[in-house]
Amino acid sequence: MSAAPVVLKAEGLSKRFGGLLAVQNVSFTQFAGEVLAVIGPNGAGKTTLLNLLSGVYRPTAGRLHLLGQDVTDQSIEHRCHLGLGRAFQIVRPFPEMTVHENVTVGALFGKPGANLAQARDLAYDLLERTGLAAHADKAAHELTLLQDKRLEVARALATQPKVLLLDEVMAGLRPAEAQEAVQLVRSVQGSGISVLFIEHIMPVVRDLADRVVVMDQGQVIAEGTYREVTRNPQVVSAYLGTETELQA
Ligand SMILES: Nc1ncnc2c1ncn2[C@@H]1O[C@H](COP(=O)(O)OP(=O)(O)OP(=O)(O)O)[C@@H](O)[C@H]1O
Ligand SMILES: [Mg+2]
Repeated sequence: MSAAPVVLKAEGLSKRFGGLLAVQNVSFTQFAGEVLAVIGPNGAGKTTLLNLLSGVYRPTAGRLHLLGQDVTDQSIEHRCHLGLGRAFQIVRPFPEMTVHENVTVGALFGKPGANLAQARDLAYDLLERTGLAAHADKAAHELTLLQDKRLEVARALATQPKVLLLDEVMAGLRPAEAQEAVQLVRSVQGSGISVLFIEHIMPVVRDLADRVVVMDQGQVIAEGTYREVTRNPQVVSAYLGTETELQA
């Protein structure tokens, strides 16, 4: 894996909110084609880290390299155009637009100067791929939770990312639905996209992640395979008293 090119490299990223260091000196490397999971108890700083990666927040300290470029001071749009896509923990499609229109917007956003016909075609392809083709003409607010999550992934894929960031896209899904979502992420990986995902559902992490980064109180406390990190005493102790079943 380490012979593959680096797609994301975080060096000492920190983010302060007033008196709280939500992300503290976080460094990690993601290689091309790799599926990297970021786990940790509630409030560990995972979503804040994702916001630093995607450009929602500027870091208080540290640098971020995306596909070999220093993007620390670059906008969300610039990172997106370079190849960084993102699905949100809180799904927020345009509710009155159709499912197809929502994905088309993603396709237009991802490529400056994209043509509408091509964007619409790409959106249809992605609806097929994410199992939403039958719902293309529904208003987005009519979708079920599972379909919402699929739409969120389709919208992120529409920006044609090389690296896809996913924040708890499985949350709230029943186990069978989560398995479908796992298949979707596998197919995304199969198409050559590197995936970085935040997830609380441990069987999903075990099944999907090539490598796991564990955060607690803003810091990376462990990194390794699923097997390694779930046997790490510091990780076990960080999860003590939470409802997460680490050895799942
Ligand atoms: N915009 C903000 N302003 C102030 N504090 C924030 C902000 N965003 C997050 N925080 C705080 O930073 C810490 C990390 O939050 P974050 O949302 O990154 O955690 P998380 O690991 O994603 O948690 P969860 O698993 O519950 O989604 C928390 O203490 C949170 O209250
Ligand atoms: Mg979060």
